[in-house]
Amino acid sequence: MPDYLLYTGTGGAKNWLRLDRSEAFPVARRLKDLLEENIASIIRFIPACMSIVSIGVGSGEKERILLEELIKKNLAEKTASGKVPIRYYPVDINTQFVDLALEKVRDLPVEKKGIVGFIEDMPLLKKHWRLPVLFCVLGNTFCNYESEFFLHLVYENLEQGDLFFFDASLLPEPGKEAYDSKKSVLGTYASRENALFNMYPLLQYGMDPEDFDFELLLSYVDSKIGPLCRTRKSLNILKDTEIKIGSETVSFREGDIIRMGFTYKYTYDQITALLDISGFEILRAFLSKDGESAIFLAKKLT
Ligand SMILES: C[S@@+](CC[C@H](N)C(=O)[O-])C[C@H]1O[C@@H](n2cnc3c(N)ncnc32)[C@H](O)[C@@H]1O
Repeated sequence: MPDYLLYTGTGGAKNWLRLDRSEAFPVARRLKDLLEENIASIIRFIPACMSIVSIGVGSGEKERILLEELIKKNLAEKTASGKVPIRYYPVDINTQFVDLALEKVRDLPVEKKGIVGFIEDMPLLKKHWRLPVLFCVLGNTFCNYESEFFLHLVYENLEQGDLFFFDASLLPEPGKEAYDSKKSVLGTYASRENALFNMYPLLQYGMDPEDFDFELLLSYVDSKIGPLCRTRKSLNILKDTEIKIGSETVSFREGDIIRMGFTYKYTYDQITALLDISGFEILRAFLSKDGESAIFLAKKLT
């Protein structure tokens, strides 16, 4: 079952916002704090005339922080010939998130165009935006994809002059006990709140929560830069049961396993290595004091 099903429909939007607010799942909130702490230095690297594109925008809170600062910079640099309007393109698979993100910046003097679409369709999406763009993928979304596929997609579809801006919740650096990192990852992802978030697609179709459980394991997978840590999620069916989806009935047998998506847990050095082999140069990177969150501003190497 692909993980985008966790975010679809009215229920999917609520599903993510509930998890994002919960104390037990601080991932996206910590990334927002890191953005706020470093916004002044980040903005120094972003030309005032840049359009902001944000894929998987969610509620659009982080984008408001970026836009407010960019507007100030744009006003300060305004020439006698007049200012260049800032354009903002919030993109998400869920139309409710696009609406929410647009509403969040209703009072800001920027030209806005919301787009409903999948990042996988980036070659089509990019026809809608005006260059140059700051291409944002925030809220740890980068870690939910195979990096080779994802960085290739971004590389192929960004133009010279565009910038790539993304954040990641990291694996604690080596030096700490391996057990510690495992405990910290499992603590966050195996919380009840995260279990309910992942169970949502079956719960919404009326499956009894007693009839299945959510399992999260950590595994290491091979890659060009060595072994990478990745979560492995599944929904395990505990009892013969069935759900109705429209006119269809889907039956499950006790012991069935529904495999789900994953989240990579990279170290800081692994992300810099991945960017390097994918043809990106890091302009600035920001690491939180606890070493658990990072933000990267990169561009394509010429
Ligand atoms: C982890 S949330 C992050 C939301 C937001 N960026 C934040 O920082 O809070 C992932 C977001 O990506 C969206 N999404 C999931 N799969 C997607 C896809 N294939 N293409 C575009 N957006 C996607 C979801 O609807 C959701 O809003």
